[in-house]
Amino acid sequence: METTSLTMHTAFEVGAVDPRLFGGFLEHIGRAVYEGVYDPNSACANQAGFRTDVVGALRRLDMTAMRYPGGNFASGYHWMDGVGARDARPVVRELAWQSREPNEFGTDEFIRLCRELSWTPMITVNLGTGTPEEARDWVEYCNCPPDTRYAMLRAANGHREPHGVRLWCLGNEMDGPWQLGHVPADQYALRAQQAGKLMKDVDPSIELVVCGSSGVGLPTYMDWDRQVLEHVGDLADYISLHRYVGNPDGDTQDYLAVTNAIDRQIEEMDAACRFSQARRRSGKRAYLCFDEWNVWYKNRQMDGEGEFAPHLIEEIYNLEDALIVAGFLNSFLRHADVVKIANLAQIVNVIAPILTRGDEMLLQSIFYPFEMYSRRRDGTSLRVAVAGPAYASKTYGQVSVVDASVVISGDQLHVFTVNRSTSETARVQVKLADRAIIGLDKSETLTGPDAKAANSFERPAVVVSRPFSDASINGGQAELALPPLSVTASTFALA
Ligand code: AHR
Repeated sequence: METTSLTMHTAFEVGAVDPRLFGGFLEHIGRAVYEGVYDPNSACANQAGFRTDVVGALRRLDMTAMRYPGGNFASGYHWMDGVGARDARPVVRELAWQSREPNEFGTDEFIRLCRELSWTPMITVNLGTGTPEEARDWVEYCNCPPDTRYAMLRAANGHREPHGVRLWCLGNEMDGPWQLGHVPADQYALRAQQAGKLMKDVDPSIELVVCGSSGVGLPTYMDWDRQVLEHVGDLADYISLHRYVGNPDGDTQDYLAVTNAIDRQIEEMDAACRFSQARRRSGKRAYLCFDEWNVWYKNRQMDGEGEFAPHLIEEIYNLEDALIVAGFLNSFLRHADVVKIANLAQIVNVIAPILTRGDEMLLQSIFYPFEMYSRRRDGTSLRVAVAGPAYASKTYGQVSVVDASVVISGDQLHVFTVNRSTSETARVQVKLADRAIIGLDKSETLTGPDAKAANSFERPAVVVSRPFSDASINGGQAELALPPLSVTASTFALA
C-alpha cells in the first residue's frame, strides 16, 4: 500500500478542544446504575455503595461531562422520587424500559459520584411527562442557597452547599415516537422555551441543551431542529445530536467508512444552527452537543419485564467496534470548533466499555480507544490534510484508508490514526509544516487477531492497547507503520 501523508500547519487551527468532548452517559436502564456503578451488596462496594473496581476503571477514562438520569428514562422520571430518606423513596413502575425502579440512587448520589470522579454533572429534565415547573424546581434544589423551599430540602437531605449543576438538557429525544410524552416539534419547542426560561430565571449561570433530531433517518430530521432553534432562540446554548451505528451486514470495510456519515451529520447540524442564528439576526448561535453516541446493533433486549436491574442492551464489543469509537472521536476533534460536548452512551453494562458479572469486571475493546484519546485531549485541534490510498465504500462514499485527527499542545503533537485496512500495514508520514518533530514521547496501539475479536471474562486481554514503537523520526518528520485494523495514538515531541 502507498504511504499516507498527514500534513498540518500550526496556523491552520480548527479550535481548542473542549474537554467535555470526553463525556459519558449514565442512565437508569438495565444494570447501568444498579449492579453497575452502584451495588451496595457487592464485595467491591465502598461506604457509599459505589463499586470501587468500576470507579477505578472509569477513573482511567477520565470522563468529563456526565449525563444523567437518561435517556428515555428521563421522560418518565420525577426527581423528587429520588431524594430524601432512602426507605421513604417510592418503588415505581418504570415505563421507558418496563423495569422496576427503587429510586435508591438519585440526584444526591449522582452528585456524590460526580465529585468522586471529578465529573461535570449534566442533568436531563423530564419534558415528556414532567412540567416546566418541575424542571425549574430541580434547578433550585441543585443550585440555590438554602433559603427557599427546594434548596432547603437539599440542605435537610444533608447537602447544605449547592451542587452547582451548570449543564441541563431540556428533555430527551422528544422527536421520537418511542419517547414518553413525544410531541411534534412546535409543541416541544413551547415546552422547552417555557422550561428553559424558568430554569434560567432560577439560575442564570446554567447552560441549556435543546433536543435536536435523535436520528438522521427520522422524517422530521432538520425540520425539527430548525423549528426548535427558532422558537427557543437565544435560550439554547447547545442542540443535541445522537448516533448509534452498527454492522448488521457483516461488511467491515463499509462499516469503517461510517465516519463520513458522522462528519456529515455534524456539518448538517452546524448548518441548522447557523441558519437559525441568521434568521433570528442574533449574535448568539447554538453549539453542538453530541450527547449520545456509540456502536449499538447486536443486542436489542429493551423490555425489562417489570424486573429490577434487568440485563438490557448489554452489547459485546469487538475490534471493529473499537475502530468505530476512534472514528467518532476523530470526527469530534476535526469539528472541535462546533462540537463542544459529547457523551459516550453509556458507561457500565448498558452499551458500555465496562461490564460487570457478580463481583467481576471486564474492560471491553471500546474502553481502550477512549482511554488513549482522553489522555491526550488537552490542546488545539489542527486541520489535517490526508493524502493517500482510499476506497469506495458501499454506503458512505469514498473514504481514505487512514482516518486521522491531530491535537497540538505546546511542544507536543498528538496524532490519532485508524488503519481501516483489514489486511495491510499502513505507512503514515506525519508532517507539521512549520515545526519539526524531534521524538516520539509515547504511543499506544490497539489491534487484535481479526475484526470480530472481543474480550470476555474468560479471555479479557484479546483486544487491549499496547505500547507502540513502530515509528521513526527523520528530518523533522515522523513515519509510522500502523498494523491492519488498528487504532494508534501517538504523542510526538516538537522542537
Ligand atoms: O442509550 C440508550 C437509549 O438510546 C437512550 O435512553 C435513548 O435516548 C436512546 O434512544
